[in-house]
Amino acid sequence: MPLICGGSLGLTAWSSSLCVLIVLVLLVEPHLVHSSSRGSFGANKFAVSPPTDGICASSVIVHGYKCQELEVTTQDGYILSVQRIPEGRSGVGAGNKQPVLIQHGVLVDGLTWLLNPPEQDLPLILADNGFDVWIVNTRGTRFSRRHTSMDPSQPSFWNWSWDELVTYDLPAVFDFVYKQTGQKVDYVGHSLGTLIVLASLSEGKLVDQLKSAALLSPIAYLNHMNTALGVVAAKSFVGEITTLFGLAEFNPKGLPVANFLKSLCAYPGVDCYDLLTALTGKNCCLNSSTVSLFLLNEPQSTSTKNLVHLAQTVRDRVLEKYNYGRPDYNLMHYGEAYPPAYNLSNIPHDLPLFLSYGGQDALSDTRDVGLLLDALKFHDVDKLSVQFVKDYGHADFIIGVNAKDVVYKSVVSFFQHHS
Ligand SMILES: *[C@@H]1O[C@H](CO)[C@@H](O)[C@H](O)[C@H]1NC(C)=O
Ligand SMILES: *[C@@H]1O[C@H](CO)[C@@H](O)[C@H](O)[C@H]1NC(C)=O
Ligand SMILES: *[C@@H]1O[C@H](CO)[C@@H](O)[C@H](O)[C@H]1NC(C)=O
Repeated sequence: MPLICGGSLGLTAWSSSLCVLIVLVLLVEPHLVHSSSRGSFGANKFAVSPPTDGICASSVIVHGYKCQELEVTTQDGYILSVQRIPEGRSGVGAGNKQPVLIQHGVLVDGLTWLLNPPEQDLPLILADNGFDVWIVNTRGTRFSRRHTSMDPSQPSFWNWSWDELVTYDLPAVFDFVYKQTGQKVDYVGHSLGTLIVLASLSEGKLVDQLKSAALLSPIAYLNHMNTALGVVAAKSFVGEITTLFGLAEFNPKGLPVANFLKSLCAYPGVDCYDLLTALTGKNCCLNSSTVSLFLLNEPQSTSTKNLVHLAQTVRDRVLEKYNYGRPDYNLMHYGEAYPPAYNLSNIPHDLPLFLSYGGQDALSDTRDVGLLLDALKFHDVDKLSVQFVKDYGHADFIIGVNAKDVVYKSVVSFFQHHS
């Protein structure tokens, strides 16, 4: 399977690092491939502009819910867009609802939770079950591209990795919701949204403001993603990606990225369609209308540095901060020759946690979930619930047609049980 990445084509280190990038993009965006014809990665695929209305207007209010567009400024100056759905469609219920914060993964934005018919969407289901719902949009995505002093055309705007989401984005939105509501917050994260909350907690952040956390497709460890990908990341020189694309925006819809994917897929013997099917895992339960809508709206930009950091997480098999690639650079940034590790055993043992993972999820490999559970082995047993969904791939957790029954029901009862 490792056609592109195994080195059997005699590729150089340079193309091997590209490989990591392509794989990361495609891993999180399987639909990019499933719904395109063979090898057609051209930018024309995205010629139709997605709606530019805010998320409230386009995807919440139309379904009869109240929704507020809000802004949260992080300590390092990024202005994040947040949507609040304060109550269910019926509008009844006492005040003092339990707030819940919903965090998407990498290369998508908050809209990704709202693409199915309304009765299937997690934020609306939570609102109808009496929760006060807050949807986060990570820095760099369509509605979170502002900063107090920089703008996205400047390289320095893209000078961040998931470390900054751990240090700045999450603490900022938690603080905001906590202060607005005066209550501890429940949390739902998908994919990268699970990694950053665990890392943040391991550094002693959020602990006083978080009530309980539901982690869908958890990806704290990425050790076995290799196996699914062929040797991909392990042998690559991730640092070179930075030289290639620069300290810059990684825009999956942009021409440079599209062209580069196209050229990789043009290698003799490389069949991107099959490669990707094998890499991403098969999502069992997607609605083709929803997938089309997804393609109109996602993928969203992130920073190249963030993808490099993720590639390092795969390659180095440890959960640690961004590696500057040279002991002297690391020394300069961290005061140590190696990047500091995130130690998950620091997560408070009595924090209610719910993990839901899929048997077909190539990104959140079941063995890596095993490693995560091992790291949590001293967690209070009555505070840790685990759900395994045999048929689910990575995207089923957000847009699966039956996720409302298979996963979201359990999320709601988990939160209610620990309230
Ligand atoms: C798929 O999505 C379309 C458009 O939102 C909707 O009309 C249809 O009922 C959905 N199908 C399922 C099985 O949910
Ligand atoms: C990027 O951020 C690091 C610190 O996080 C800083 O040392 C470096 O100078 C920044 N580079 C640019 C180009 O902004
Ligand atoms: C993580 O922290 C625990 C104690 O909280 C310690 O026993 C363990 O050695 C640490 N692990 C690493 C890799 O530093």
